[in-house]
Amino acid sequence: MNKKVKIAVLVSGGGTNLQALIDAQKNGILKSGKIELVISNNSNAFALKRAEENNIPFEIIDKKDFEEKLKEILKSHKIEFIVLAGFTAILPASFVKDYDKRIINIHPSLIPSFCGKCFYGIKVHEAALKKGVKITGATTHFVNEIVDGGEIIMQKAVEVYEDDTAEKLQKRVMEFAEWIILPQSVEKVCKNIIKEKS
Ligand code: GAR
Repeated sequence: MNKKVKIAVLVSGGGTNLQALIDAQKNGILKSGKIELVISNNSNAFALKRAEENNIPFEIIDKKDFEEKLKEILKSHKIEFIVLAGFTAILPASFVKDYDKRIINIHPSLIPSFCGKCFYGIKVHEAALKKGVKITGATTHFVNEIVDGGEIIMQKAVEVYEDDTAEKLQKRVMEFAEWIILPQSVEKVCKNIIKEKS
């Protein structure tokens, strides 16, 4: 049997997408990869509690020497694939180049709408409501040196309701798009990595 791809999940906040990946690992949707490590740039991230509860090793890296420390940790755990799941920092272009087609991100809109440097978290949904779009959703994509600009892997649409607040919309996009396409995308990419290696 082919060995599972070693995954690191980078987080900054609540970690509901990390939870979706942990659940997918348990229920067999994610079978070609294994979450070996969770890394956060925020020591208060609830995502770290989720890692701890599920016996997944975690590391906190602060801003100082971020790239250097990140590389060191990834190397020591032999990480092959990186998933950005609500990670708020922008990875340096030099780092991203070294991990070509080995980093993916989940973004809470249908790219190319409401994406790029200024759009993250609740801001994305506020912008969608302000524009008055009737459909929004989530996108998984490979990470390259352009923020939210890498090749799209999966997208899922979600309806916007008349009485939506940004919070209500965020919750619906998470439940009906993000938590579904992120585990599916991770499985898809891991399967391809295994294929490439054999
Ligand atoms: C998610 O909605 C994710 O798509 C978004 O932050 C939230 C993190 O929630 N990411 C971005 O906006 C990236 N540009 P979580 O910590 O509960 O997974």
